[in-house]
Order: sequence, then C-alpha cells, then structure tokens
Amino acid sequence: MEQVETLKREVAAALAQAGDLAALDAVRVAALGKKGSLTGLMAGLRDLDPEARKAFGAALNVAKDEITALLDARKAELERAALDAKLARETVDVTLPPRPERTGRIHPISQTRDEMVAIFAEMGFTVAEGPDIEDDWHNFTALNIPPEHPARQMHDTFYLPDRPDGKAAVLRTHTSPVQIRTMLSQQPPIRIVAPGRTFRSDYDQTHTPMFHQIEGLVIDEAIHMGHLRGCLIEFCRAFFDLPDLPLRFRPSFFPFTEPSAEVDIGCSRKGGELKLGNYGDWLEILGCGMVHPKVLDACGIDSTRYQGFAFGMGIERPAMLKYGIPDLRTFFEADLRWLKHYGFVPLDVPSLATGLTR
Ligand code: PHE
Repeated sequence: MEQVETLKREVAAALAQAGDLAALDAVRVAALGKKGSLTGLMAGLRDLDPEARKAFGAALNVAKDEITALLDARKAELERAALDAKLARETVDVTLPPRPERTGRIHPISQTRDEMVAIFAEMGFTVAEGPDIEDDWHNFTALNIPPEHPARQMHDTFYLPDRPDGKAAVLRTHTSPVQIRTMLSQQPPIRIVAPGRTFRSDYDQTHTPMFHQIEGLVIDEAIHMGHLRGCLIEFCRAFFDLPDLPLRFRPSFFPFTEPSAEVDIGCSRKGGELKLGNYGDWLEILGCGMVHPKVLDACGIDSTRYQGFAFGMGIERPAMLKYGIPDLRTFFEADLRWLKHYGFVPLDVPSLATGLTR
C-alpha cells in the first residue's frame, strides 16, 4: 500500500515538472505503460493470496483512476498554456498602420490621368481606348490628313513595317485616332475621353519619344463652340484647383477641326519660376476645335445633322505644373527614389467628391 502512495506522489511530482505535452506523455508511459510502475505492481498481484490480492487490487485500481485524472488535468493545463502562448505570439494590433510600410507608389502620370478622367467623368464623359499601334488611315487619313500632307512630317512619325493586310502601320502620333474608332463604332450622341500613350520621334529637354495625351470628343445635334469653351474652362479650373484661372482661346489650325484653337492658361515666369494665375503671361496646354465635317463623313456620321467638338491635351505638362516636377525626362527613368518622392499612395484614388489629390 505504501508503494502505491509513493507512486502517486512520484507521478504528481513528475507531472508538475512536465513542461510540455511530450514530457507529460513520458510520465504517462512511465506509470501506466506496458513496462510502467503501476503496471508492474498490477503484475505482482498474482503472487499474493486471494484476500490480499482483492484489497491491493482495489487500491491499485483507485490509484490508476487517480493517476489518469492527474494526467488529464495536467494535459488540459498544458494545452491551455500552449494556446495562450500562441495567441500572445500572434497578437495583431489592428489599430497600427500596415506593416511593413507600403513602398509601392502610383506614378504621377497614372495619377494625373485618373484625375483628368475623374473630372470628365463628372461631366458625363466615358472612357474610350484605342491601340498604340495604329494604321495610317486612322492616325492620318480619316482625320483629314491625306498622304503627302505636311502635317505628317510635323508629327515625326515612327513608321513600322507594313502589316500583312498591306496597311502602313505607325505608332500613333496622337490620341485623335480614337475619335475615329469611336465614331465608327457608335452613333451620336457621343461623349468620350481617350487617355493613352502617344509617340513621336523627338528627344530633348521638353520632348520624349513616348508621351501621353487625353483626347475628348463630343458629338450631338446642337453642340457648339460655347460648349467647348465651357467644358475646357471648367476642366482646367477643376484640375489646377484654381477657380479663377484665366484661359485664352487662341485661333490655330488642325486639319481635323474647323475652326481650331489652342488654349493657354494664365501664368507668370518671373525669375525662372512658373506660377499659374492672372499674371499676364500665357502657357499653351491643349489643342481643340469643332470636328471637321470631312472627319464626320469619313466615319459615316451625317455631318448635316451632327456636329461636335474635340480636344487633345498632353498629360505630362499639366502633371509637371500641378506637382512641381521640373524635368520631363525623369518621368520615364524608372528611378525608385524619384517615384517615392513624386508618386502617390495607392489608396489616394482621385475623385471630385473627396477633392482630387491633396
Ligand atoms: N491631336 C492634336 C495634337 O496632337 C490635338 C487636338 C486634338 C487638336 C483634337 C484638336 C482636336 O496636337
């Protein structure tokens, strides 16, 4: 009987020492396993006389139950401790900013394009797109720039090998071919903007061979130049966030619009520093005009019934003005330090409701 008491005490002590489930199992095997101490005592029962065997056997059974209960209790304790440790280790403080700190940035061109689209979307424009690789007809001919027209030279076109269908392929020199694609695929009323890449063989301080434009096209039965003016004045003031930014519509020429104009915004360039506002100086930012009837005709739109306006604007220059980016060429150098400085955090999605980009 004393042996049983000792055994129970030993098991209790060993359990208190057992720090994890593996140690606990070792205690169980040592007591209750095939070669365990309690199992050994049970085996010894057969050498006792019947009376003693009965009493000792009962005591051993009680001891076995007690030891099993101790094991179960300690097991539950260890499991709870293990879970607590895991929870403590994996604590997430959801009030902290995201870690690791986000390093990705939205390129200023993308951000500026999205801001421009957001402003026009508010006015009811939808976004249209066209391919970077165009054919001669969409890029020039349908826009009333026939072969041999001097405007083709002015565009410093990148020519590609003729396509299998014999058409001359070019990298589009402006987004205006999207006007053509849109008018060929949908009937008026039309109100689209088309942002995208454009290409001209030109490289210096203020020109890169690839740049971006956003085109606008509005066609309906009673569209006139007042709509064009109102739309672009509203756009520029919203984009630069200057409610009284002066705009000047200066007569110009494009083969695909008649009349045509270029739009200048008020600025000052004193001391090499460029400021926007009513300072008497002017900066050209876009070309526009009333869509030429020949262009409507080329797209199968009845030019006696419909008319409209179009505009085309670079994206880089307004982006530089708005965000104080001094050098055009840095836009395309893929310098991560530059992008970290001038780029935008991905959650800063431009919308007029939230105040474009702050
Ligand atoms: N496509 C012209 C350019 O690239 C801009 C423009 C577009 C002018 C639409 C008038 C109308 O310079």
